[in-house]
Amino acid sequence: RGKRAFIAGVADDNGYGWAIAKSLAAAGAEILVGTWVPALNIFESSLRRGKFDESRILPDGSLMEITKVYPLDAVYDSPEDVPEDVKTNKRYAGSSNWTVQEVVESVKKDFGTIDILVHSLANGPEVSKLLSETSRKGYLAAISASSYSYISLLKHFLPIMNPGGSSISLTYIASERIIPGYGGGMSSAKAALESDTRVLAFEAGRKNRIRVNTISAGPLRSRAAKAIGFIDMMIDYSLVNAPLQKELTAEEVGNAATFLSSPLASAITGAVIYVDNGLNAMGVGV
Ligand code: NAI
Repeated sequence: RGKRAFIAGVADDNGYGWAIAKSLAAAGAEILVGTWVPALNIFESSLRRGKFDESRILPDGSLMEITKVYPLDAVYDSPEDVPEDVKTNKRYAGSSNWTVQEVVESVKKDFGTIDILVHSLANGPEVSKLLSETSRKGYLAAISASSYSYISLLKHFLPIMNPGGSSISLTYIASERIIPGYGGGMSSAKAALESDTRVLAFEAGRKNRIRVNTISAGPLRSRAAKAIGFIDMMIDYSLVNAPLQKELTAEEVGNAATFLSSPLASAITGAVIYVDNGLNAMGVGV
């Protein structure tokens, strides 16, 4: 049978999560997605109304099928963690079972197991602030949504991942080089995510024969990136300075994710794989 993938962090057709879903679908995988609760209604109604149909077209002309969309808020591990004001919030009250533990229970009930886990989400409420001006609350929120969310997803999914499976996340070079503008502790969150990739690769490899990698992606004009505010500048900078002078497409990151999730990558784990037109290899701008 084909492999089954759960992709956390898909709420429109512009981001890396969507492109990864498409590439995995083109390779024959069954697609389940986790969509942030406040974005769920508009995503599902857009899907239903055919707003994404053009973006759903796969290389063979068929449309990507998303077998099921699960509401998810990856900053909450179980119902006890959800504060009252979130529970009663209009955008949350209409959905249920969206904490990490409950989503995994639902997937288990619906499908039994998965083979591929993709984490394509991040959030840093103070991303536009300098790191040196970030509050404790903002810093911890960035780490919670962007780093621990991955540990939590992997921790809960591991028991229902088939041996030989693979898990990937998305990171950004601001973890290891200075990228002014990527503030609020988001650079720290990506550094944690990359370090955790190595440790989790060891633990998940030894225990469950699961591979764990992260893709350090170049700049893409996604919804999240537009919110940060400097994405056009980053894309222009890459066009001028990277070894490959072309715009990076989400599809290229999707294809790398599919490779990493496939048996072709069976000895790759604990790695940070750059999919950025080579920009990471430059020492100075030109
Ligand atoms: P995106 O906006 O398509 O994806 C981010 C998703 O995270 C959104 O769907 C949002 O609803 C979801 N999300 C936020 N908080 C959540 C929560 N608490 N629970 C569940 N979902 C939540 O944007 P993009 O850029 O494709 O982001 C995907 C990943 O790629 C992120 O990890 C990002 O840091 C990474 N990345 C993006 C780059 C870019 O230039 N766009 C460059 C390098 C890495």
